[in-house]
Amino acid sequence: MESHAIILTKAAFDHGNLNIRTCGPNFFPEGIFGGSTQDKLGEQITIKADGLPNLIKTDIPTDATTGRPRWLFRERAWVKTFVRVHRLAKGDLVIIRKVGNRAYSIAPSEPQSLDVSLNQQIHSPFRYAGGKFYARKLILEHIPEHSYYIEPFAGGASIFFAKREAQKNWLNDIDKDLMNCFIIIRDYPECLIDRLKNEVATKERHGWYKNVYKPVTKLDHAVKWFYINRTSYSGIMFMKNCYWGYHDKYSMRPENWPQQILKCSHKLKNVKLTTLDFEKVIDKAEDNSFLFVDPPYFNADQDKFYKHSFKKSDHFRLCKVLEKNSKRLKFLLTYDNIPEVREMYKWATDLHEKEWNYTLNRTDDQRKNAPSRKGSRYKGQELFIVNYNSAKQPNLF
Ligand SMILES: C[S@@+](CC[C@H](N)C(=O)[O-])C[C@H]1O[C@@H](n2cnc3c(N)ncnc32)[C@H](O)[C@@H]1O
Repeated sequence: MESHAIILTKAAFDHGNLNIRTCGPNFFPEGIFGGSTQDKLGEQITIKADGLPNLIKTDIPTDATTGRPRWLFRERAWVKTFVRVHRLAKGDLVIIRKVGNRAYSIAPSEPQSLDVSLNQQIHSPFRYAGGKFYARKLILEHIPEHSYYIEPFAGGASIFFAKREAQKNWLNDIDKDLMNCFIIIRDYPECLIDRLKNEVATKERHGWYKNVYKPVTKLDHAVKWFYINRTSYSGIMFMKNCYWGYHDKYSMRPENWPQQILKCSHKLKNVKLTTLDFEKVIDKAEDNSFLFVDPPYFNADQDKFYKHSFKKSDHFRLCKVLEKNSKRLKFLLTYDNIPEVREMYKWATDLHEKEWNYTLNRTDDQRKNAPSRKGSRYKGQELFIVNYNSAKQPNLF
């Protein structure tokens, strides 16, 4: 039986409005559309809402001026009871199913069926240049207990997705397209999935999204970002250096994108997402927050990877703002292991030298003189700089 997901917006909680536009015009019988008021009802359908005793009878009203469907059920007093009974929140999904001739059922979607809990390690929805996916185990070992988790340079946020979710979470990145895609994944996952559902990963589609497609809405921008990111070499999104890089063996296939989007949406549900400059985030962070700080490398040609260049003066600015807030915040900062960085952070509590393995055609290496042979094994060598006593933690995350 045909079914569709409906995302609960604020209007569902305030007025009982369920946005049923995504169900499409053919999901409901033709005569369902009535006038703008109760005087002219359309042919009603019945809805069995999970957990409610009575069947609901309703049609869909049209707009008094344009005569177009308003894409919500006329009868909607029941929605407020339904969301209360199931303890639903804004952004949750409910599933509407056609179960017979003019008969429908509605029930909350079950996050358990996605096999994800907030404590589960999942992967970022994105591939990301400079991402810390391959270093996640080493990083998690040094994260102290905390209740507010913040990433001022989120990128693909691979550490956020790998760790247990804190009570409060804040992801920030100056790249507006990246953060728009995170916001769409958090708030409108079904709309993104719907738009990507017939996609195939081909060089032609990649070229079309990159050079021809002109996004208008925020959803359009997210579709473009997601498609290009999943099919580009190393997930590089700086258009001048963004090339086709999908490989059936290594890349996530389009049929698995929906599941990944839903898992990430679930984990992002109560996460604050912003596009500020890092300095504001660090200055505004609540006392005792823990910050995972992963800026662009000091000694790398950053202009190749990110839309916003990060200058030497920005590195010094970062050092200054971290030192200024060091007494009230905890941070773990990752950097390239070079004398200039060691010198800048000699005031920090601890510096750890770390190495990890990765394979080039699965990830990227943004440093100068990095080996360029595809597929070769390579060691990442970095510094973890912390302002707290960071002996390995008892596997809290
Ligand atoms: C090394 S990446 C972060 C990677 C991320 N930790 C991950 O695992 O995917 C650095 C990020 O800093 C962002 N960035 C650059 N300048 C910034 C600024 N002034 N404020 C905030 N973010 C900035 C870039 O857009 C980029 O996404």
